[in-house]
Amino acid sequence: MTSAVEQRGSAAVTAVSSAEQKTWCRPHLLGLEDLSRDEIMILLDTALALQEVSTRSIKKVPALRGKVVANLFFEDSTRTRTSFRLAAQRMSADVMDFFVATSSVSKGETLADTARNIEAMGVDAIVIRHRSSGAPHSLAKQVKCSIINAGDGSHEHPTQALLDMFTMREHFLPQGRTIADLHVAIVGDVANSRVARSNIWALTRLGAKVTLVGPTTLCPDSFAGFGVNVVHSLDDVLPHVDVVNMLRVQFERLTSAAFPSVREYSRFFGMNEQRLSRCREDVLVLHPGPMNRGLEISSAVADGPNSAILRQVSNGLAVRMAVLYLCIGAASFTSRNTPSNP
Ligand code: MLT
Repeated sequence: MTSAVEQRGSAAVTAVSSAEQKTWCRPHLLGLEDLSRDEIMILLDTALALQEVSTRSIKKVPALRGKVVANLFFEDSTRTRTSFRLAAQRMSADVMDFFVATSSVSKGETLADTARNIEAMGVDAIVIRHRSSGAPHSLAKQVKCSIINAGDGSHEHPTQALLDMFTMREHFLPQGRTIADLHVAIVGDVANSRVARSNIWALTRLGAKVTLVGPTTLCPDSFAGFGVNVVHSLDDVLPHVDVVNMLRVQFERLTSAAFPSVREYSRFFGMNEQRLSRCREDVLVLHPGPMNRGLEISSAVADGPNSAILRQVSNGLAVRMAVLYLCIGAASFTSRNTPSNP
């Protein structure tokens, strides 16, 4: 007898194939700003179908067999790099990890030359994280393989926002509530956060109400131009939201002191048990990680029943499988249909 999970899995995979044939045609995932509502939904639905693979005893499908994915990370990362690696492996792709500190980049090679050399080895997709905003976009113009943005400066982190939304859907859909029904607070260092920007683009496109909360130095009023609310009191907002997405304070990107002391930041903008008691009972608490425990979030909240922080990590795998599957598939489709040069 097939289990509910298996039934859902096979039905969803069928749905994925037809949805994907209909509308997904991008070889790259550079950000969420340019994506339509339908494209975001295809990514989320495909991730839902692929989530089931990780529940099997043999956690592998042949979808990307024979394909090669290269991880090219110019900034530190444990979670995202590992998640992309495992996602590619679950789809049977081969994975190459490039360590920038020990590569030719440290001898002065340009990003484009590094990428072209990697591509010349027959790579189908490059997953790139770079400290410069726009690096993946410029690379996409210089190579033929798929480029997946794993975080560019403070600009975008599309797979993080997708996994955040996937986690919201997972929590609220059983109650019959879609993303469009949700009020999401994004709290803290919005100014330096690529996670915040990607979330803003996608959540507003899907119809959610978004409120940004933080000190004026880290959450300037100019963000209201993105179609979101901007406020500076966390306590006032908490009773009205369904999701609280706590951002890490990006100390490495701060050019000057953005708040008087860590203690003061935590006093006004840290999520703790006392603040949680002001929230709706089923509020969902998210954090992209790595967490500064005791600063933007207390351990009691991070490890408590409203926290979906580890679910986010698990869901990241399904989301990244979907991104690789759709983009590499679209890239091969495009090249198959591009007339070869005479
Ligand atoms: C990122 O790379 O942006 C992380 O996922 C979030 C963070 O570093 O705060």
